[in-house]
Amino acid sequence: MKSALLTSIALLTLSSFAAAQTDSPASGPPATEAPATQTVAPEPSVPVEEGLAAWDTVYAVASHPRCANCHVGPDNIPVWSGPSYGARQPHGMHVSGGESRIGAEFIQCQTCHMETQTGEPHAAPGAPEWHLAPVEQQWIDKSSAEICHQFKDPARNGGRSLEEMALHVRDDKLVAWGWKPGGNREPAPGSAEETYQAIETWAAAGAPCPDS
Ligand code: HEC
Ligand code: HEC
Repeated sequence: MKSALLTSIALLTLSSFAAAQTDSPASGPPATEAPATQTVAPEPSVPVEEGLAAWDTVYAVASHPRCANCHVGPDNIPVWSGPSYGARQPHGMHVSGGESRIGAEFIQCQTCHMETQTGEPHAAPGAPEWHLAPVEQQWIDKSSAEICHQFKDPARNGGRSLEEMALHVRDDKLVAWGWKPGGNREPAPGSAEETYQAIETWAAAGAPCPDS
């Protein structure tokens, strides 16, 4: 019964579509088409408002100092900011990532930033392969809309699908440091798992971006 009903809806949809295509004046008023179109073009599984709310959660993480201090611009200089640092300032000791973003031109990040950390206040925090994010993944000083658009653009996110972005946030060890930063640094909001879920929800809503 149910499948017969669905088939007839599908046929109705096809015929009204065909009628619309021919642009014939005899095709009648479009009122009957409204319910049928839903079976043709499936809506995203999550409403846009819910997707935008989920993006706010992602943005709160991306713009937090524990993430943004490494996602810096073309000056290649990591940032010290957040409550434990006082006023925002460039990384001390004249550190620069250089174009390599790993400090190869000056002193390598991993000279001081080890794989693990002591947890002492003001000691260099540690996580595997500590270095700056690529310049096209700059988050610091960018608006929510700007980060949103680059976040879903494979040309600017390391060639990742939205699912791969979600998994990177859930599983990457460098990202994980943001929630366990050691010393008296303030952790990024929420958790890796919650941020992963927020990216999934945002993606299911069609990855909508805010206006600003
Ligand atoms: C000479 C040692 C040294 C080198 C080299 C170094 N750092 Fe640091 N870095 C530190 C110390 C120490 C701190 C913590 C300062 C504090 O907590 O007051 C720090 C903190 C940071 C922070 C702030 C983390 C936070 O809490 O949000 C970032 C980002 C950072 N370093 C990135 C880098 C990058 C990228 C490189 C390589 C381009 C690098 N560092 C090279 C010693 C170093
Ligand atoms: C120590 C520096 C550092 C910190 C801190 C850091 N990242 Fe990154 N991030 C990187 C590097 C390096 C890459 C590039 C890795 C790659 O492409 O394999 C990257 C890439 C990413 C990517 C994928 C590409 C893109 O468009 O950005 C995401 C997502 C990401 N980071 C999320 C985070 C989140 C969330 C936090 C905070 C919880 C964070 N990162 C903190 C260095 C950092």
